[in-house]
Amino acid sequence: MTTETQQEADGAGAQSSSDTLTVTDNRTGKHYEVPIEDGTIRATELRKIKTHEDDFGLMTYDPAYMATASCRSEITFIDGEQGVLEYRGYPIEQLAEQSSFLEVAYLLVHGELPDRKQLDEWTHEITIHTFVHENIKEFMQGFRYDAHPMGMLLASVGALSTFYPEATAIKDEEVRYIQIIRLIAKMPTLAAFSFRHNQGKPYVYPDNDLSYPGNFLSMIYKMTELKYEPDPRLEHALDVLFILHADHEQNCSTSAVRSVGSSQVDPYSAVAAGVAALYGPLHGGANEAVLRMLQRIETTDNIPDFIEGVKRGDEKLMGFGHRVYKNFDPRAKIIKQAVEEVFEVTGKNPLLDIATELEKIALEDDYFIERKLYPNVDFYSGLIYEALGMPVEMFPVLFAIGRTAGWIAQWLEMIDDSEQKIARPRQIYTGQRGLEYVPIEKR
Ligand code: ACO
Repeated sequence: MTTETQQEADGAGAQSSSDTLTVTDNRTGKHYEVPIEDGTIRATELRKIKTHEDDFGLMTYDPAYMATASCRSEITFIDGEQGVLEYRGYPIEQLAEQSSFLEVAYLLVHGELPDRKQLDEWTHEITIHTFVHENIKEFMQGFRYDAHPMGMLLASVGALSTFYPEATAIKDEEVRYIQIIRLIAKMPTLAAFSFRHNQGKPYVYPDNDLSYPGNFLSMIYKMTELKYEPDPRLEHALDVLFILHADHEQNCSTSAVRSVGSSQVDPYSAVAAGVAALYGPLHGGANEAVLRMLQRIETTDNIPDFIEGVKRGDEKLMGFGHRVYKNFDPRAKIIKQAVEEVFEVTGKNPLLDIATELEKIALEDDYFIERKLYPNVDFYSGLIYEALGMPVEMFPVLFAIGRTAGWIAQWLEMIDDSEQKIARPRQIYTGQRGLEYVPIEKR
């Protein structure tokens, strides 16, 4: 940043170039020229705006990061106005239709699509790492019989760091790579064990003859049969859901992974932070909230009353609205198709009628139109999960399995980014200062 006085000395004149922002500090009358790069200014440039030499400098105040880019990223592109989502430049629609989750995970982590040999090797590596240490089972046994599976997943993925202490060597590429494989491979196993514990059923070991989603279904549903054979249509629907949830740039859980990972902790601990963030009802817990909302609405006749309540501010229409998408969420469109395919196998869920009618009414209502509120990825995903026989508690867990690929890709990108340091926001202190301590008996 240059001040006007410096510019004149440089012979540049007071005229600013078009890629800069000219700021006048009315406190001092000084002018500053701040470079604009990629539609942003560096917040640290503002620190140069001071009223006197010892002044800390100007800061930005941005609760919830409404207008702050925290990193440069080559992983996921979103155009919220146009409803565009791309992983590494590939449109989500093409990936959902033509790719597989493991190929998408490779794409996210490596930055490009694999050739046949690379994909086979990647798939093989992930498949042979699906088993978890036997002590994990005992660890799981310690949870109450009805523990929420997301809480168990959160704890057990964090606990993995104790089984692989070498994972702290995050600068060692080889060590790092094996943790990536382990995380993608073991997440479904931990998720399924959490489910089985919650159901009081014995844990099922991975079946490495099956596909990634097929193996997950087997670990969830297998009982006395010698071999579980997943319905290929359900296997495919689950794979598509994993693809749709694989990454979504700097959302709450990804930011949590990056923020915690910026302390250079091992990736299991960083991913545990992501699982924790995803647990919340405004993030990965939204599909659970959608299903509970649809169950509560009960019949399409109750929809108008419900919508009026939302407009009065009594509650939110869960599964609607998004911080970034202000036109439509492209994932919601793909999921809606997948819902139809799953219901061909499982039979239609009457809640689908309520969801469809609710969507129709909301999309015609001024309240939702003015606020640009559209169905998000979670509006229909809960219906598929329920059709697959999953209890609502498992919904965020399924989300976490897919999102693990994105969390890891984002974590890797952060580790290699020379501009990143430990995440440490500033604050505006609003409390008291310099109070005199009063002994308790005198208060
Ligand atoms: N139902 C009713 N009104 C809503 C909804 C909703 N779902 N979402 C936003 N609004 C209203 C707000 O009340 C606000 O109205 P106002 O201007 O009169 O005060 C306006 O729309 C703007 O909303 P914000 O809360 O400022 O939007 P923000 O970007 O902060 O929130 C969020 C986005 C959290 C997703 C929000 O829309 C929401 O809570 N939706 C429901 C939960 C949900 O479905 N979450 C899943 C998100 S997708 C995901 O995580 C995978």
